[in-house]
Amino acid sequence: MLEDENRLWYRDAIFYEIPVRSYYDSNRDGIGDFLGLTQKLDYIKSIGIDCIWLLPFYKSPLKDDGYDISDFYSILPEYGTIEDFDLFLEEAHRRKIRVIADLVLNHVSDQHPWFIEARKSRNNPKRDWFVWSDTMDRYKDARIIFIDTERSNWTWDQNTGQYYWHRFYSHQPDLNYDNPEVREEIKKVIRFWLSRGLDGFRCDAVPYLFEREGTNCENLPETHAFFKEIRRMVDDEFPGTVLLAEANQWPTEAKKYFGNEDEFHMAFNFPLMPRIFIALAKEDSYPIQNIIKQTVPVPPTCDWGVFLRNHDELTLEMVTDEERDIMFSEYAKLPKMRLNLGIRRRLSPLVDADRYILELLHGLIMALPGSPIFYYGDEINMGDNIFLGDRNGVRTPMQWSFDRNAGFSAADPEMLYAPVITNANYHYEFLNVEAQSRLPSSFLNWFRKAVSVRKKNSLVLGRGDIEFLETGNRKVLAFLRSYDSEKMLCIFNLSRDPTNAQLDLRKYAGWTPEESFSRVPFPKIGELPYFFTMPRHSFFWMNLSPPGDGN
Ligand code: BGC
Repeated sequence: MLEDENRLWYRDAIFYEIPVRSYYDSNRDGIGDFLGLTQKLDYIKSIGIDCIWLLPFYKSPLKDDGYDISDFYSILPEYGTIEDFDLFLEEAHRRKIRVIADLVLNHVSDQHPWFIEARKSRNNPKRDWFVWSDTMDRYKDARIIFIDTERSNWTWDQNTGQYYWHRFYSHQPDLNYDNPEVREEIKKVIRFWLSRGLDGFRCDAVPYLFEREGTNCENLPETHAFFKEIRRMVDDEFPGTVLLAEANQWPTEAKKYFGNEDEFHMAFNFPLMPRIFIALAKEDSYPIQNIIKQTVPVPPTCDWGVFLRNHDELTLEMVTDEERDIMFSEYAKLPKMRLNLGIRRRLSPLVDADRYILELLHGLIMALPGSPIFYYGDEINMGDNIFLGDRNGVRTPMQWSFDRNAGFSAADPEMLYAPVITNANYHYEFLNVEAQSRLPSSFLNWFRKAVSVRKKNSLVLGRGDIEFLETGNRKVLAFLRSYDSEKMLCIFNLSRDPTNAQLDLRKYAGWTPEESFSRVPFPKIGELPYFFTMPRHSFFWMNLSPPGDGN
């Protein structure tokens, strides 16, 4: 674990999500690996990343991209050895980059020896590590998550003549958390990886650990109690460990994962993410304001992880039917773009690679409360391939250069785990790290700049309060972030047309706004409404300095 005086580092940090498989192949087998990832740490540092989130890298038949684990204690051989992992961690820490890893604790692969044992006979000692039933009638109120592939949360086991329970794919049986042996084993897994030096976990699918009749089997008190127990354990044995919850829930339930500062340190702000896209589609700031008001404040040692995209479909489970219709009609015009209740596209294609919108969205996600979590490749606006199955279209090889296989691998192209993107609008020959690094005006260089400005203001943007300001124009979102005497005014034009807004800033009469990227001072605030003229899809971040502070 990286030692730091700053106990709340995660509140100020920039996170970056990486699948080892997709990042860099060091041994020409067409699959990314830990040694490859280690070679790219300088790049990761150069874009300002403080913490890497690694997708599952454990042994797995890879039917759900590693979320189907068959051995928690070993690394998928294609990704390297445990020594390679240790070296990667050491090199990341040497660069002051932290690393958290996915902890998939709700389920295992049906190839896991525990399940292979459990389905041998009804009295096998591992039988009770899973959830069994004679009928499919139990837990009827639990929804099905992967609706495109699964018809039920129960699957018949021919050999023993009972059904087993699974919230995700039928090849991912749920562990039975009512069994104390299971709880102890998962603690062992946690200890194993933390003692190798990890800085924490992104805990997968946390709402679903326990099942109770007559409930929807999500967010149960038993589940919260178990995570509180985990929190106590890591606080005692590995102080400084950070736990980040993947709980795709409505705001009131999502917030509960912070507990009383005794459960998770962080949780993804799932409620916010789709509402950003809805606000953009409707050119209306209300959906963002409304959801932020429902998700803040959070306890002082906790924070949201805010994100635009990740490795899954853009999930629309926790929005209204009307909101989902807007999302589908605006962002998923072809049926192939949809998956389950979501949209399987990367950020740039979602917004037709529109540079103005991409900057606007990044400006927003770095200014709203929470720590930004970026998805690999989005810093160069990578494209996707909706013709690859499942969510694989957003998991293609990272585009490093215009060389063979986008510089990702020196293997023969047909050996790659997935084809590189060659669509004319997103072709790796021009959309790659090397080309964008050389071009001062590239998105990658803009991203680096934006991240560095965010980091200069990491206290006010990371920890500050938020106050929404009246703009007289619903297309414009404006808010003030405040942390002690630091103040930042952030204003966004969500519209496809130029517009203007007038802010009542009389409270700050005599203060001077300074545009945060350029440090260009703007006219001093007075008693009259403060007037902004804004090009389409644009934003300002402004540091406010009090009277007498050099002006
Ligand atoms: C992960 C998915 C995965 C699922 C089942 C999630 O929430 O993000 O990628 O398929 O858990 O493990």
